[in-house]
Amino acid sequence: MVIGNGWVWRLVLALMAAGLAFSHLLHHFHGHLTLLPSPHAKYDCSRQQPPCRSYPPSDFHCRQGRRALLRGSSFLFISCVESLSRAESKEEDDLYAVEEQRLIHLFEEATRSVVSIQDIEILNPKAEKGSAAYEDFKLEGTGSGFIWDQLGHIVTNYHVVAKLATDFSRHQRSNVSLLANDGTISVYEAELLGVDPSHDLAVLKIDAAKSCLQPLPIGTSLDLRVGQNCYAIGNPYGLEHTLTSGVISGLGREIPSPLGKPILGAIQTDASINAGNSGGPLLDSFGRVIGVSTATFTRQGTGVSSGVNFALPIDLVRGLIPYLIVYGTISSPRPQENPTFKGI
Ligand SMILES: *[C@@H]1O[C@H](CO)[C@@H](O)[C@H](O)[C@H]1NC(C)=O
Repeated sequence: MVIGNGWVWRLVLALMAAGLAFSHLLHHFHGHLTLLPSPHAKYDCSRQQPPCRSYPPSDFHCRQGRRALLRGSSFLFISCVESLSRAESKEEDDLYAVEEQRLIHLFEEATRSVVSIQDIEILNPKAEKGSAAYEDFKLEGTGSGFIWDQLGHIVTNYHVVAKLATDFSRHQRSNVSLLANDGTISVYEAELLGVDPSHDLAVLKIDAAKSCLQPLPIGTSLDLRVGQNCYAIGNPYGLEHTLTSGVISGLGREIPSPLGKPILGAIQTDASINAGNSGGPLLDSFGRVIGVSTATFTRQGTGVSSGVNFALPIDLVRGLIPYLIVYGTISSPRPQENPTFKGI
């Protein structure tokens, strides 16, 4: 228990009150108690029959004394209770502040590892590279991703880069925005290394200096428990990272993949995951990646979000990423996008 200054003060006050009450008592009983014999004794509370309990009119002084005693002791009691509850609520405040600080720290630690991915369509790809016309582009969408290692590998959802993955006309680009230590943002054109639409995963590579690449610590999804806290960090627009928090609401869920076949073992959470933080990491309380946030899917035809948030379990992801980096795919033919897939 924390004994703050308030506690000490209250104790001193209570002692003073007790002293006051006692002196009050002495004043009223002066000469009436056998304890303090006095030649002027008029009343003897302890001997009188019946004693103070019946309060005869002549017993005025006894009553006064009792009241004073009662007041003093109740003040003492209230002060003690109050100071104890104060100490307790201070303790609660401290815990709350510690929890808050921990979350702020978790967010700050992770932000530089969470990148923003912009889908860009070059409107005039035949123009000379570097010319004004070549710079004409349309921003088609944004998503998030996170730094996997210091070689510049970025993990994200397949649906975030699906346009680039299925682009044979070379009109599509994916740019990755990275927040540097000094708070500046650098933009890199990303190379698509590998895709796995059956698990909604993709790996990009950017050519950034090692000092700019801070990979996130990877956790495990094996020992996750329903009810434990989790945090989704996204970076939809390059500068503004977002943090959403919640708990793990379910494990072993099935979610549709861009190919239509379900992905098994997905994590369900109430931490909100939208198009902006899709592809970003889902973290545990220690800032370790436990999943890849994957945007909810619109119900086919309705265009309405299902409102339930999912993440790919990190153990699944960790098993697939090396294949995507080395072979570009986990299954041989380069995939075609499923037209019924509607990631938001
Ligand atoms: C994409 O990245 C490249 C390389 O950094 C840059 O030249 C280009 O302007 C970027 N495009 C957009 C739309 O940010």
